[in-house]
Amino acid sequence: MSNEFNGKTAIISGAAGGIGLALAEALAEQGMNIVMGDIDNAALMQSGSALREKGYNILTCALDVTDYSQWEDIVANAKDKFGKVHMVINNAGVGGTPGKVEDSEHETWRWVMDVNVMGVLYGAQASVPAIQEHGEGGWVLNVASMAGMMGMPYAGAYCASKAAVVSMTESWIAELKPFNIHTSVLCPAFVKTRIHESYRNRQQKYAVAQENRIDKEKLKAGAQAATMAVESGIPAAMLAERVIEALKSKQTYIFTHPNYRKVTTERFNAIDNGFIDAENSAVVGHLIDDDMVTF
Ligand SMILES: NC(=O)c1ccc[n+]([C@@H]2O[C@H](COP(=O)([O-])OP(=O)(O)OC[C@H]3O[C@@H](n4cnc5c(N)ncnc54)[C@H](O)[C@@H]3O)[C@@H](O)[C@H]2O)c1
Repeated sequence: MSNEFNGKTAIISGAAGGIGLALAEALAEQGMNIVMGDIDNAALMQSGSALREKGYNILTCALDVTDYSQWEDIVANAKDKFGKVHMVINNAGVGGTPGKVEDSEHETWRWVMDVNVMGVLYGAQASVPAIQEHGEGGWVLNVASMAGMMGMPYAGAYCASKAAVVSMTESWIAELKPFNIHTSVLCPAFVKTRIHESYRNRQQKYAVAQENRIDKEKLKAGAQAATMAVESGIPAAMLAERVIEALKSKQTYIFTHPNYRKVTTERFNAIDNGFIDAENSAVVGHLIDDDMVTF
């Protein structure tokens, strides 16, 4: 098989199910060796065996993305088994519990931030040196969400975490380009997975203290809406096919739901209107003519 992926090795976090598993299968189909990491060991074993039975080169490794030492282990195991690492897909993510700002549980925010943000940092930090060391280049693909491109009521933690992933990706693009590492961010809208059941893998260290617990009834409506939206989503296999297409054409922002373009356009326009207002401001309007540093 002749393509840019064949014979190379990808590490995928959260690969036991949903989007991660679909990406694992699609990239294995392109000829890649796949290292699947996940916190859910039973699901990981099952999914790993199913892919092996299809004849793909698969290594499964226990991985809680919030633990940097487990990232170091998975990278070392990938190198031991397949020689080199070319790609990391920071896919593992959790949805948190939708709720009003005044009903936010601090432990839930910490969980969402640790998995969705620190997990992505750790994945890149542990994998990038391994991708750099062979000089063949590679990929860092961070899985954000359309939620990283827009705020959504009652989903502050999730949106904030995904906006951070978009921003981290944008910061790393120029850093990694000299090493021929293509850095991109995947921003899907709804995909039919188990993201609305993320609490199933919530670690004990993020358990909500009794005094911080929010009345479950208050959270119910938001949770039901999230379930309905996810269940109406596109199939994960379709998303994976789209990702391969977009990686081949070296997209930075990988979108899977073109109908959301109007949302980002509205946001860009609102931001632009803020700048027009600043240009016309009696206080700071003159700065446009000054020789000021602009990044
Ligand atoms: N499904 C959607 O509608 C949707 C939309 C946009 C973005 N996303 C993003 O896609 C990614 C994958 O989610 P999904 O929809 O496939 O959900 P999913 O719940 O079906 O799969 C997530 C996987 O991550 C694993 N995981 C959870 N916590 C982990 C941890 N601490 N360490 C390692 N693995 C962990 C789970 O065990 C599971 O296998 C997430 O980052 C999510 O935010 C999903």
